[in-house]
Amino acid sequence: MGSYNIAVVGVGAVGEEMLKVIDERNFPASSIRILARTPRTIVVRNKEYLVEATDAESFNNVDIALFAGTEGEKGAAVRFAEAAISRGAVVIDNGADFRMRQDVPLVVPEVNAAALDNHRGLIANPNCSTAQLVIALKPLHDAARVKRVIVSTYQAVSGAGSAAVTELADQNNSVSGGTEVKSSVFSQQIAYNVIPQIGGFDDAGYSSEEMKLVHETRKILGDDSILVTPVVAARVPVNTGHSEAVYVELEKPLTAAQAIELWNEFPGVSVWNDSLDPKRAYPTPLEAAGSDETYIGRVRNDLYNPYALVFWIVSDNLRKGAATNAVQIAEALVERNLLRRN
Ligand SMILES: NC(=O)c1ccc[n+]([C@@H]2O[C@H](COP(=O)([O-])OP(=O)(O)OC[C@H]3O[C@@H](n4cnc5c(N)ncnc54)[C@H](OP(=O)(O)O)[C@@H]3O)[C@@H](O)[C@H]2O)c1
Repeated sequence: MGSYNIAVVGVGAVGEEMLKVIDERNFPASSIRILARTPRTIVVRNKEYLVEATDAESFNNVDIALFAGTEGEKGAAVRFAEAAISRGAVVIDNGADFRMRQDVPLVVPEVNAAALDNHRGLIANPNCSTAQLVIALKPLHDAARVKRVIVSTYQAVSGAGSAAVTELADQNNSVSGGTEVKSSVFSQQIAYNVIPQIGGFDDAGYSSEEMKLVHETRKILGDDSILVTPVVAARVPVNTGHSEAVYVELEKPLTAAQAIELWNEFPGVSVWNDSLDPKRAYPTPLEAAGSDETYIGRVRNDLYNPYALVFWIVSDNLRKGAATNAVQIAEALVERNLLRRN
C-alpha cells in the first residue's frame, strides 16, 4: 500500500473528528494539509496542526481531499472541489451540495462500496442520519426487501456544527444561572427543549433534513421503489449521537430474532437488545458517542403486521455519520485502486 497526500478542508466539528480518525486508523498519509477560512494553529489528540487559508493552489499534489466545510455557495466544496479535482485529487465531501448528482457516488462502504468504481473525482458522504439508517436497512433489504420505512430522528446539536455545541452549553449555563437565553444557531432555545425542525420546510411541509432521508436512502440502497416517510427530524439537547425510531415493512415476513441475526453478521453493527442486562438493554447517544458502531435496540415485530419490524438506532453523528465514513471511503478507494495517482 502506498502513502498519500491528504487535505482536510474545514476543521469544525467534523473536520476535527476527521483528523482524529485518520490518526486512530493509521491511514497511510504522507502529508496532511489542513485548510479552512482562518489560518491558525490547532491541537487535536495532543498533536499540533497548522491550519492554512484555502485557495485553489492549496490542492497541488493532494491525492485525497476530505471536505468538511460549510455547505452552499460560500462553502468550501462549492468553491474549491473542482479546483482539487482538476489538480488530480479525489474529493470526498461531507456536505449536501453534490449528494444527489447522478455522476457522484453516495457511499457508505459497508453498504455500497461498488458505487465507487465509476467515480469521476467527486464522492459524497451521506447525511449523518442517513448513514446509520442505511446500515440498519441493508441486511434486511438483502434478506427480505424493504418496501416501506417510517422514521423519526432525534438529532444531536453537534450535527449543526461546533457553534451549535457552544450554543447548547451557553444556554444550559444561562438557564441554570437565571440569565437571558440567547439563540443564534437554532431558531428557538434548544436547552431543555426539542425542536421539530432541521432545515427549511418544502411546500408539502417536510424539512430538508427529512427529505434527505428519503432521497439518500433510495440512492444508497439503489432502489427507488422504497417508500420512506420521515415523520419528524427533531433536534434534541444532546451533544453527540443521533437516535432514530424506525418502522420497516418488508416483502417477506421476518421475526425480530431473525433480524438480530442478520445485524449480528453485518459489519459495524452492535445489537443491544438484552432485557436481562440493564447495561445492554438498549443503546443511548451517550454510549454511542466516540464509537464507530451503529447500535440497534428495542427490536420487535409490529403488533399487527408480521412483515414489519420496529426498532431504535443510535450512532455517533460526527464519526460514522461523517468523519469515520469519509475515511472509510478513502480506505476503500485505496483498496480498490481507485485513486487517480495510484
Ligand atoms: N456535524 C455533523 O454531524 C455532520 C454530519 C454529516 C455531514 N456534515 C457536514 O459536514 C460539513 C462540516 O460540518 P461541521 O459540523 O464540521 O461544520 P462547522 O463546525 O461549522 O465547521 C465548518 C468548517 O468549515 C470551514 N469553512 C467554511 N467555509 C469555508 C470555505 N469557503 N473554505 C474553507 N473552509 C471553510 C470553517 O472554517 P473556519 O474554521 O476557518 O471558520 C470550519 O472549520 C457540513 O457540510 C455538514 O453539513 C456534518
